[in-house]
Amino acid sequence: MEDSKKIRILTGDRPTGRLHIGHYFGSLKTRLKMQENDQYDPYILIADVQALTDNFNQPEKVRKNVRELVIDYLSVGIDPKKTTIYIQSMIPETAELTVFYSNFVTISRLERNPTVKTEIAQKKELFGESVTYGFLGYPVSQAADITTFEGKLVPVGEDQLPLIEQCREIVRKFNNTYGDVLIEPEAVLSNTKRIKGLDGNDKMGKSLGNAIYLSDSEEEVSKKIMSAVTDPNRIRKDDLGNPDVCMVAYYHHLFAPEKELKTICEECRAGKRGCVACKKQLIQYVNEFLNPIRAKREYYEAHPEIIDNILLEGTRKARLTAKETMKKVKKAMKLDYFES
Ligand code: TRP
Ligand code: SF4
Repeated sequence: MEDSKKIRILTGDRPTGRLHIGHYFGSLKTRLKMQENDQYDPYILIADVQALTDNFNQPEKVRKNVRELVIDYLSVGIDPKKTTIYIQSMIPETAELTVFYSNFVTISRLERNPTVKTEIAQKKELFGESVTYGFLGYPVSQAADITTFEGKLVPVGEDQLPLIEQCREIVRKFNNTYGDVLIEPEAVLSNTKRIKGLDGNDKMGKSLGNAIYLSDSEEEVSKKIMSAVTDPNRIRKDDLGNPDVCMVAYYHHLFAPEKELKTICEECRAGKRGCVACKKQLIQYVNEFLNPIRAKREYYEAHPEIIDNILLEGTRKARLTAKETMKKVKKAMKLDYFES
């Protein structure tokens, strides 16, 4: 199918850390499926400008993670021939649009945004008494991310829904004021639920130390799974267990073959399975899952020039699309002074 007839899909990540298996089951898997569908034209943006809104004092961290992120993508099978990967800060049109859109969003609307509200509460220490203008405004910049590329579908987790709603509002106001120029995007909720951490925490993250990273070595995987939370009522091997309260069982649901999963749960309930053996089996499954990913990672780590080329090429392509949008926007806003 011709590129121009395809449905543009836009997703993005902040380059602030490596991706873990929660990201894999939560979003990467959806992206892999979408890139195989010929009707779609998927873009992945590496949101470095957005990452700086709460990491402005750590530019090295953001810079380093841009390339780490691309390696994570490639190692799970994101194919730059099918998916355009680009760097947000290298698209000046997005920054321009952010400024134009800022007239369509009130301060109180931003302050009411549930995602931003939660984040501000978490970041009190970073921002002190008052949050920065840049951070408060990141939903506006995210609206620009999406509309710069005429993104039609935006696959996101539930936490991002208020941001997409904000984008739709901006688009409607813009179009009402200047004429039908922008495309109103739709959020697509990824149906996979959020994956819990090895400690049972709802959130997985570096600071919590409860996540398995796509880049973890066999030893790291082994160490983490050995200390995962199991059924606390099981002390001896023949105590009857409850896999529903065990994080090892929870992860077996993700990694074990269907048939084996049934056996695992039955043996646990019947007190016929030791937790150590059960964990070792999980370690094996996770390593089998990660091994091909590790092999690809090793290849790309040895070839940084390939990563650079993918980023340059993706950004070049993205920039062409961005310029087209900007032309239409400036014309509609009567800012096309020397165009005719
Ligand atoms: N806010 C997203 C996150 O934290 C990242 C992001 C930036 C994004 N721009 C986007 C996601 C545009 C979808 C569309 O994960
Ligand atoms: Fe969890 Fe396995 Fe132990 Fe059952 S046997 S409690 S599933 S680790």
